Amino acid sequence: PAAVIVAIDGPSGTGKSSTSKAVATQLGLSYLDTGAQYRAITWWMLNNNIDVHDAMEVATAAAKPVIVSGTDPTRPTITVDGEDASGPIRTQEVTSKVSAVSAVPEVRTRITELQRTIAAGAERGIVVEGRDIGTTVLPDADIKIFLTASPEARAARRSGEVKGSDLAATKEALIKRDAADSGRKTSPLAKADDAVEVDTTELTLQQVIECVVTLVGEKQ
Ligand code: C5P
Repeated sequence: PAAVIVAIDGPSGTGKSSTSKAVATQLGLSYLDTGAQYRAITWWMLNNNIDVHDAMEVATAAAKPVIVSGTDPTRPTITVDGEDASGPIRTQEVTSKVSAVSAVPEVRTRITELQRTIAAGAERGIVVEGRDIGTTVLPDADIKIFLTASPEARAARRSGEVKGSDLAATKEALIKRDAADSGRKTSPLAKADDAVEVDTTELTLQQVIECVVTLVGEKQ
């Protein structure tokens, strides 16, 4: 069978990562977490004393770090200049700075190229999760899913993931990040016209996974 390309987009806390990994595992497909790549480049910028709010400085540095993503959905990995970055890219510091870095066009061009190369090399197909996969990175994807959920549900899920985090603060940070991601000029967070929107507010993770697996099955 031809390689199937599945694009899963949506704001934070909608269950994108858990869903994408499970769907890829069940269907024997590769998996790419594009948010991890933007986090990785942000982590590199912070380590190299780049002022992340200076778009010129970020643009100039954008080509420097070597970012390599593993595509096994059962053990996703990411390295920056050969160093394992899986842990450090999840810190609050990176989370609070990533939207500024990902809004810079030179960063997006660089990371988008990487994503297209990885998708083209996935022989059996791939599940790619992000914000602009269906609209910009892989507009010809076979299946496009746009996950949504109420801000309350999203904040509750995120706070459940991060130990000792405060629900109200989590909700505020999440809304701020989504607003920045949706409001940027270059390929903002958006639903593609031909994407299927799934509101996960009242669904369990298992139900969302089943829903996506069914949609992929219908297209194959
Ligand atoms: O999905 P995750 O929360 O790890 O994404 C981190 C950040 O990376 C997002 O808030 C957004 O700024 C950026 N991102 C993006 N385009 C994507 C995926 C993530 O701009 N396709």
